Amino acid sequence: MQALQVVCRKATSDDIETLFLLIKGYAEKGIMLPRTREALAYMIDSFVVAEIGDEVVGCGSLTKLGSDLVEIRSLGMSDGYKGLGIGSKLVDALIEQAREQRTPKVMALTYAVSFFVKNGFTVVDKEIFPEKVWKDCVNCPKQLACDEIAVLKMLN
Ligand SMILES: CC(C)(COP(=O)(O)OP(=O)(O)OC[C@H]1O[C@@H](n2cnc3c(N)ncnc32)[C@H](O)[C@@H]1OP(=O)(O)O)[C@@H](O)C(=O)NCCC(=O)NCCS
Repeated sequence: MQALQVVCRKATSDDIETLFLLIKGYAEKGIMLPRTREALAYMIDSFVVAEIGDEVVGCGSLTKLGSDLVEIRSLGMSDGYKGLGIGSKLVDALIEQAREQRTPKVMALTYAVSFFVKNGFTVVDKEIFPEKVWKDCVNCPKQLACDEIAVLKMLN
């Protein structure tokens, strides 16, 4: 089979509808926080998309939580494109952005722990991220019973 040509690039406003639908699908399964189109428009610069031809097949975003800490959020692949190494490419692209911002710590809250471990992250206690609580958790339906696992990668 011919290798897929995957390009990871910064998202633009043309991607908002695709991102909205991709994230909505995972939000309905309780895997991601939902994002409105308006919120996506506001935060579009934080998103990276993976594209095959002219089809967006995955996305992820990077949010600054503090001077030395960023969080990977909204990382997801379209059905039919999982397990092809594309999610790992998106993580690489987001880590590259963290490096460009000179932010040494990259974290995520996730159920896909072995995926992140495969990409060089370590499982950590989520209590070490007090910054996180103020940003997003206040709006999360699971805030009092969060069962996601915190993972961290230190950049060098
Ligand atoms: C998690 C996700 C982004 C990974 O992207 P992907 O392109 O499928 O991943 P890759 O092909 O780069 O890597 C695959 C590896 O990750 C592991 N992996 C993939 N999804 C996983 C999951 N949900 N839980 C644990 N491990 C997972 C696989 O076991 C695989 O390991 P292997 O190569 O040793 O078999 C994708 O599966 C997805 O969209 N999942 C649903 C949304 C989600 O859970 N997002 C994470 C929220 S932070």
